[in-house]
Amino acid sequence: MIFRTILLVGVVAFGCFVLTAQQAASFRIFTAEQADAGRLAYERTCGKCHTNKLIGRKGDTSELPPLTSLSASYQEFIGPRGFVAPLAGKVFLERWGNKTAAQLIARFQETVDDPYFKFEGFRQ
Ligand code: HEC
Repeated sequence: MIFRTILLVGVVAFGCFVLTAQQAASFRIFTAEQADAGRLAYERTCGKCHTNKLIGRKGDTSELPPLTSLSASYQEFIGPRGFVAPLAGKVFLERWGNKTAAQLIARFQETVDDPYFKFEGFRQ
């Protein structure tokens, strides 16, 4: 549980870093080291499905990492359509822009707690 919380804080740190980078670094909440650690944690876990650039999947073969490189269990979770919701960009902001960080973290937790979902990448 503590590790999951650390992972989520790292993911949020990475997300904030991406946002600040897009806003010409006008404000900083996390250090560059914390953002790097968050990026690495993200790429090993959530990023496998939501892609390295946080834009989600539409089933396009150019998406990275390639869908076919994921474990069978992850591919099954994603399903034949290859759709994974974005965690950044216009659609994400339309859906989540007016919600609180706590609501977003509660939504992450739903995926992580899904009994059919075997989370990978925690201990690497
Ligand atoms: C095995 C693939 C997979 C992994 C790993 C994964 N997700 Fe997802 N996630 C999905 C899929 C597929 C959806 C869309 C379907 C659904 O709503 O369940 C989704 C939906 C979401 C949503 C809802 C987006 C919206 O607009 O409704 C959020 C937020 C989210 N994931 C965050 C995360 C975070 C954070 C992590 C890592 C801690 C993570 N996910 C790991 C596959 C994954």
